[in-house]
Order: sequence, then C-alpha cells, then structure tokens
Amino acid sequence: MTKPIICVNFKIHSNAFGEKASELASIMSKISKEFDIRLVAAVSAFDLSSITSNFPDLEVWSQHLDPIGIGSFTGSLQPENAFYHGARGTLLNHAEKKISLDQIKNTLSLIPEGMVSCVCAADVNQAKAIAAFNPTMIAVEPPELIGGDISVTTADPEIIKNTVDAVKSVNPNVGVLTGAGIKNGVDVEMAIKLGTVGVLLASGVTKAENPEEVLRDLCSSVFN
Ligand code: G3P
Repeated sequence: MTKPIICVNFKIHSNAFGEKASELASIMSKISKEFDIRLVAAVSAFDLSSITSNFPDLEVWSQHLDPIGIGSFTGSLQPENAFYHGARGTLLNHAEKKISLDQIKNTLSLIPEGMVSCVCAADVNQAKAIAAFNPTMIAVEPPELIGGDISVTTADPEIIKNTVDAVKSVNPNVGVLTGAGIKNGVDVEMAIKLGTVGVLLASGVTKAENPEEVLRDLCSSVFN
C-alpha cells in the first residue's frame, strides 16, 4: 500500500497565511518525519516560496493554478512558475475556486512533470467526468459539508464509496481523496476503509487550538 495522504488546505484562514502559515508548515514538517504518512500543505501562492525554501522536506502544493503557458499573461498562477518555486502539486476546481471542465482539462495538460494534481469534485458525476482527464487524484467534497462539524465519512459515506467505484470504472490510475468536515483520526481511518487514498481537510487543523495534537491524531490513526 502506498503511504496514505493527509493534505491540509491552508485556505486563507487567519491561522494559516503569512507568518502563521510558516508556523503551521513547521509543525507539519516535524510531524511528517515521525509518521509513515504523506503529509501535504496546500498553501496560498503568496506563501509558497517561503514555505518550500524553509521546509524543503515538506510536500507543498499550490491551492490553484491557471491554464496558461509562459508569455504575455498578467496576474495568473502559471504552472511552471509554481513548480520552479517548489510546488510539487496543485489543487484544482476547489469548491471555493471552481473552474469549467475545459479549464480543468487545459490546466492538467500544462502541469509539469514532477507535479501532481488533485482535482476536487462535488459529486459522483463530476468525479467521473474529471477522471477521464487523468489527474493524479480526485478529492470528493460535498460542498454543504465543507467547514462543518460533521465529517463526510459520517454524514455521507456512500458518496465516498460510490465516487471510488465510479472513478475506478473510468480510470483505475486515479486515486480518490475524502474531503469535507474531516477532523480526527477516526475520520481518516474511515476514509481509508472506504477505498480512498487519504483525506483533504482544512478547518480541523487550521482552526484547531492545538494543530500539532490534531495532526498527530490524524496521522497515528492510520496505523491503529
Ligand atoms: O479543501 C478542504 C476543504 O474544502 C474541506 O474543508 O474545513 O471541511 O476540512 P474542511
């Protein structure tokens, strides 16, 4: 089995940008060395470069990239430039940064070698359509459960299971991540049991009083 993935989306939560993003990345970098887990930080483009240079061992993703090449383009997040600054992956089509299927396809075609992609999907049908574009991963996140107190693994385990089956039927190379409301190790354990390769979460860590304790719980559960 490949290492389970725990991806923390820093969003622009008050505890997860600027100096605070560095503090959280520092905790994640430390914890990633203690567990056999692929711990990933999806950070704001503004924080990416300082985090990748200060914590070279931590896997860092961009929260979004645009479907543009090199040239006369202003104000966009260009894939090769993100890679140059140390991004080793990207989220795409997050519920808070939705793009069209065409944009997803075009952006994926520009992702440099050495960078993974995780495209978010709100439901099974979207996940199925996205799987045909061959992203590295798809994160299934029912939008109504994002930022809430109830984990998708409790509220709607069926959507996870059905997404895994649907994605595999289209493209068996694509891994599925579970997202929305993930808070603790039990949720991670359940996500793995449902056939996904890990979790994508935000507030459970970024809004926690003690993010280190939460991260430890998230990581250790996988081995219980
Ligand atoms: O990108 C992860 C996110 O959308 C889920 O957020 O706060 O429910 O873990 P949260």
